[in-house]
Amino acid sequence: MMTPPPQHSPAAPSHSEPTTTRKQAASSGRVLFVDDDAELCDLAKMALTASGFSVETCTTAARALIRAETEEFDVLLTDLHLGDMDGLTLCGRVREMRPDLPVVVVTAFGSMGAAVDAIRAGAHDFVTKPIEMDALAHHVRRAVEHRRLNVEVAALREVVRKSHAPENMIGESRAMTEVYDIVRRVAATDVGVMVTGETGTGKELIARAIHGLSDRHEGPFVALNCAALPETLLESELFGHARGAFTDAKQARRGLFVEASGGTLLLDEIGEMTPAVQAKVLRAIQERVVRPVGDSRELPFDTRIIASTHRNLEEMIEEGEFREDLYYRLNVVHLPLPPLRSRGNDTLLLAQAFIDRFATRHGVPVVGIQAPAAARLMAYDWPGNVRELENCIERAVALTRFEKIGVEDLPPRVREHTPRRLPIDVSSPDELLSMREMERRYILAALDTVGGNRTRASELLGLDRKTLYRKLKQYEESGDDSP
Ligand SMILES: Nc1ncnc2c1ncn2[C@@H]1O[C@H](COP(=O)(O)OP(=O)(O)OP(=O)(O)O)[C@@H](O)[C@H]1O
Ligand SMILES: [Mg+2]
Repeated sequence: MMTPPPQHSPAAPSHSEPTTTRKQAASSGRVLFVDDDAELCDLAKMALTASGFSVETCTTAARALIRAETEEFDVLLTDLHLGDMDGLTLCGRVREMRPDLPVVVVTAFGSMGAAVDAIRAGAHDFVTKPIEMDALAHHVRRAVEHRRLNVEVAALREVVRKSHAPENMIGESRAMTEVYDIVRRVAATDVGVMVTGETGTGKELIARAIHGLSDRHEGPFVALNCAALPETLLESELFGHARGAFTDAKQARRGLFVEASGGTLLLDEIGEMTPAVQAKVLRAIQERVVRPVGDSRELPFDTRIIASTHRNLEEMIEEGEFREDLYYRLNVVHLPLPPLRSRGNDTLLLAQAFIDRFATRHGVPVVGIQAPAAARLMAYDWPGNVRELENCIERAVALTRFEKIGVEDLPPRVREHTPRRLPIDVSSPDELLSMREMERRYILAALDTVGGNRTRASELLGLDRKTLYRKLKQYEESGDDSP
């Protein structure tokens, strides 16, 4: 299962150590079994307890309703024939009262009609009589998982809903909260903002957020990618041109500085501007006027300028490739966006938001992500940042045959990624790992280093072999066995 926020430990699945039955019972789920046959209740209780569930029983629907209302259960199992109320009515009442509690109905063998009625009445699943205890445990386990997934998805959605992030922005990590803080403060002013960050970190989205929170929000937001145009086209795009200024200039154009007046102009990939354009941009920003190409007049503009780049402009200044004076004009406030890999749990919040978005867009019933897949998302280093995660989730939503995305739905680079680095950056809470996750990574990395030799690994780690084997088995069972 995914780690629900706000806990910051990366998706360390919450499998309990199989050392005591009591612990196991607590983690396997709490079952309310309802049947007017007390003997059957005892039998089911014994079988399900042996499978690790904690089981309560009731012989009347009235009593079951009270318990379902006042206690926490993960699943309610009911027979269709109870003394005081029929099972379908009970199912309907429980669904109304506790929509989060899945109901599994026990129907007579061969009565498909009853099973269909039960599902119509809101039952999550049905099992047939005579009850086969192994199958019963299997159905109960599925229902418990279903409920827990729903609870986790609801928790993730709630975090996104309650978020203080600007509209359309997702992320609650300390690193991003600091970004939002700067965004709010600079939005109220017209100072030059330089947004930097690796590709796909959301530079354009942040520029839009600044615009959206500013007094200019009703004016235009215009983004221009300076890397996409050759010098002359870029000039006429920015400053406009007079009619006949060059061969193709059949109409006069105002240029984006003027067109974005009253709003915000994002100069994207500013590091790609040639020195000639840099000089003209500097002059325009200083004088608050532009002279269109081939025109003798100057046009005033009132446009906020935000610049962004993934290049290191300080280095470019040293190399004489970028004007220092322009740099200081644009970079009154520097807004560096953190890479996704240092945003902790934001990866899961973003993944959930993208699942919801793409499931709706493509009309597929995908609601969440399985624990081992969540662990892979947390372990991967996302060189393409949020854009790469977005693509990865869209693909997974389209591919998956289940309601939860699994490891096999992830692209190979994410699925097979083996981080060698053991990140111990204790300066940021988002980088901290749970002890369990730290241990897992360390053990798997150590095993990798000694070429998979378990005896050698156990010696080096100071663990006895049995303990090491047990831990490796756990990682394997939870699908969490890649470093
Ligand atoms: N915090 C976030 N919450 C939600 N979506 C995000 C977030 N950050 C980025 N995205 C999404 O990721 C994608 C990439 O964002 P954006 O284009 O703003 O990145 P960029 O830094 O400008 O990338 P590039 O360097 O490639 O131009 C977009 O689809 C954007 O909506
Ligand atoms: Mg961009």
